[in-house]
Amino acid sequence: MTTNLTGRPAEIAIDFGTANLRMIHRDGGVIFDEPSLCCLTGLHDQPRFIAAGAPVSAMTDRTPAGMRVRRPLRRGVLQDIGAATHLLRYAASHVIKRRAFRSPRVMIGLPADVTQAERNAMLTAARDAGLNPVCFVPEPLAAAIGANLEIDAPQGTMIVECGAGTTEVALLSLGGVCLTRSLRGGGAELDAAIIEFLHARHKLLVGRSSAERIKYAIGEACTRGGAADAIEVKGRSLVSGLPAAIRIAPTEFADVIERHAQHIVDLILEVLAETPPELSKDIHGQGIVLTGGGAATPALREKIEAGTGLGVTIAEESGLCVARGLLKILHNGSAAS
Ligand SMILES: Nc1ncnc2c1ncn2[C@@H]1O[C@H](COP(=O)(O)OP(=O)(O)OP(=O)(O)O)[C@@H](O)[C@H]1O
Ligand SMILES: [Mg+2]
Repeated sequence: MTTNLTGRPAEIAIDFGTANLRMIHRDGGVIFDEPSLCCLTGLHDQPRFIAAGAPVSAMTDRTPAGMRVRRPLRRGVLQDIGAATHLLRYAASHVIKRRAFRSPRVMIGLPADVTQAERNAMLTAARDAGLNPVCFVPEPLAAAIGANLEIDAPQGTMIVECGAGTTEVALLSLGGVCLTRSLRGGGAELDAAIIEFLHARHKLLVGRSSAERIKYAIGEACTRGGAADAIEVKGRSLVSGLPAAIRIAPTEFADVIERHAQHIVDLILEVLAETPPELSKDIHGQGIVLTGGGAATPALREKIEAGTGLGVTIAEESGLCVARGLLKILHNGSAAS
């Protein structure tokens, strides 16, 4: 279930996502929950730390020459160990108040199909940040525990963890992962598709944060049944080169959202086609549970229900499921052998 590195129990857990970093303390719960961003300045071989986490959100796409906002993870994979180390150190300074004699032992959530190279990169970043990795936990397992699902029984559970950089479909039973498939893409790719659509159709250039806000606005409009209410979109006109604002009906984004959802439906269908019959029977009764921040993506639930014929539930506070699951594991140690 977990990769045990030292056998000693962990006191801190980390959910290091493409969009958000959550750091959890066994006694304090989810203490740090901020964007996975780090701002550095200076030369490549000697960068100087400026800021990390929440304050960097407003700096994104607004930095002067020589200063850069870095995202340590891309499509769920750690790409920038230096930036990751700075961010982990910053988060740890919020979570570990007392100066400990020994470096704190940590448990890290990782995608179930993580490669050895990806695991090693995370180990290096954590150690460089003064954290001592104890074990790794497959994220879908943590997500299921955080969603309060009964996973220890001989009973199949299907979970779809919809992150910003990865979408993971996992079939769980008897406290372990039976089958998993992932897509190296998630909410961030939908934002990129929105940017592309506005560029191609409306000749308007928008940044990533604006695209994410548009995505939320589409979701809110659909939820309150106001799909015809126009959304204001601001950016730079590619025609005039000037700042511009246009109003677009949420329904205009239907194809973009549909294509995104279809990738996830295809991934689920792939796992269902390989599911052993007894587990398949369980899933037919129980349906599918969506976790991760992207679980609330407009029309995703309806699209999965239509594509699979199964019931779909969105976990409460879906973005926090992995972190809550890690906290439970810190407490009872069940998944951290
Ligand atoms: N209400 C919402 N509607 C649509 N998307 C949402 C909503 N809330 C959050 N998201 C999206 O969820 C993603 C963040 O989710 P989460 O925090 O689970 O990702 P992550 O753990 O950082 O990424 P990953 O695990 O893939 O590396 C972002 O792409 C964000 O835009
Ligand atoms: Mg995640």
